[in-house]
Amino acid sequence: MPVVRARDLSKSYGSGHTRVDAVKCATFDLEDGEFLALLGPSGSGKTTLLTIVGALLEPTSGQVVIGDRDVTKLRARERTAFRARQIGFVFQSFNLVPYLTARENLTIMSSVAHLDRAEVGRRADRLLEELGIDARRDNLPEQLSGGERQRVAIARALATDPTLILVDEPTASLDTALGIQVVQVLGEEIKKRGKSGIMVTHDSRMARFTDRTISILDGVLTADRPRAAIHSRAR
Ligand SMILES: Nc1ncnc2c1ncn2[C@@H]1O[C@H](COP(=O)(O)OP(=O)(O)OP(=O)(O)O)[C@@H](O)[C@H]1O
Ligand SMILES: [Mg+2]
Repeated sequence: MPVVRARDLSKSYGSGHTRVDAVKCATFDLEDGEFLALLGPSGSGKTTLLTIVGALLEPTSGQVVIGDRDVTKLRARERTAFRARQIGFVFQSFNLVPYLTARENLTIMSSVAHLDRAEVGRRADRLLEELGIDARRDNLPEQLSGGERQRVAIARALATDPTLILVDEPTASLDTALGIQVVQVLGEEIKKRGKSGIMVTHDSRMARFTDRTISILDGVLTADRPRAAIHSRAR
């Protein structure tokens, strides 16, 4: 059974002559254990679609089912609780807490998701090490580079052991080698620990580290390809 079923999702911002149809009738499934890239240029609707799937933004119309829950039907409080337990979200702007250290930005998630503090602490230490930011654990976000902040945000999303990982442009502040490493850590986390994930990117080079790519253009899902097809196209 798919982990995510997105059906006929549409989102419009504003009204009248300022109205923007950011996502138009998007339908797709995310299979259990799958790592999916959502690929498209700036302004194509990637963040809008990802935040709808992550139950952070209500669609204008359409439905998102995660597991057996229709998240578009949940009340605000239920939705928040569901999100904290099930979904790890990495925002394009990172959204780190400025007065907490890198490690504290991870461990604070134990109270948000009502999880065991010691267990989240152990996961935090492992993730800081795997993502190469262990030496920066006691720094505040303002004392970190853009790429380090991004990796802290990724580690934070994984710290609660969510079943679904949603990542918005995880490589935008990273050079190519580090970007590839970060996407590989995400892929490994998904494969090793039985999770599923969607990664938003405008960079087709990053998409080749995922199982499948969906392309989006002007709010419309245009193509759905397994990894092999992307490889042969790139050659
Ligand atoms: N809160 C908002 N109010 C009005 N329009 C918005 C809002 N958020 C996004 N938009 C518009 O919706 C469209 C899609 O935006 P979105 O942020 O989803 O694109 P994106 O693919 O994530 O772009 P980027 O790669 O630059 O992050 C754009 O035209 C954008 O200007
Ligand atoms: Mg975006």
